[in-house]
Amino acid sequence: MSFLSGAHMTGGYGGADILHDCTIGVEKGEIAVIVGPNGAGKSTAMKAIFGMLGLRQGTVTLDGRDIGGLSPQERVVAGMGFVPQTNNVFRALTVEENLEMGAYIRTDGYRETMEQVFSLFPILREKRRQPAGELSGGQRQQVAVGRALMTKPKVLMLDEPTAGVSPIVMDELFDKILDVAATGIAILMVEQNARQALEIADKGYVLVQGRNRYTDTGAALLADPEVRRTFLGG
Ligand SMILES: Nc1ncnc2c1ncn2[C@@H]1O[C@H](COP(=O)(O)OP(=O)(O)O)[C@@H](O)[C@H]1O
Ligand SMILES: [Mg+2]
Repeated sequence: MSFLSGAHMTGGYGGADILHDCTIGVEKGEIAVIVGPNGAGKSTAMKAIFGMLGLRQGTVTLDGRDIGGLSPQERVVAGMGFVPQTNNVFRALTVEENLEMGAYIRTDGYRETMEQVFSLFPILREKRRQPAGELSGGQRQQVAVGRALMTKPKVLMLDEPTAGVSPIVMDELFDKILDVAATGIAILMVEQNARQALEIADKGYVLVQGRNRYTDTGAALLADPEVRRTFLGG
């Protein structure tokens, strides 16, 4: 069983099931990437693991502990950080205020963690007094990731962190995500830039219609002619 594991997940939003026996996992210090067509259920799988969705079947475990009964807030306390696909920063608040909001569950001081976030994303230190809404798309994504890091999570879940950014900014963000993984945090990420994401992935999951279609190392998926032709544009 993986450090973070959503196993045999079946469920949806109350109507027909979206996920069908879907299994996703990631180890400490590793990057797992979920790819697949639009509407495949990638975001739904992330929400299920974060507890935003009632599962009819399946289990979610973190570090061997069954967390399936916990609310999203309780999962944050248990060590999960989640950056949703949309509306992931408070645009009217400054960068620093966004990071402070991220620390809401901390009962100890969080200054040191904020310093770590500023070391990882130096531009955020420079712009700490600016409203997040005034930043570029790539910088806002850094705020969103930084905010999730403020709880000192054991696992970081990112839903399309590079959506809408240029290829250069995407490369920079992926480098930062590699840095975060190197600190021992498990990273589970949904990406529409499938090829580039699989290049940095220890493990990749191709989802289609809520089901696991291919599961392998990032390198093996990139080398698989069928995966390339069908999901990576040749
Ligand atoms: N809040 C919701 N309520 C009902 N259906 C939803 C909701 N969010 C997504 N869906 C449906 O679930 C399916 C999977 O969506 P999603 O997980 O967002 O796909 P992906 O992230 O892979 O593009 C789609 O058919 C979508 O219409
Ligand atoms: Mg999505």
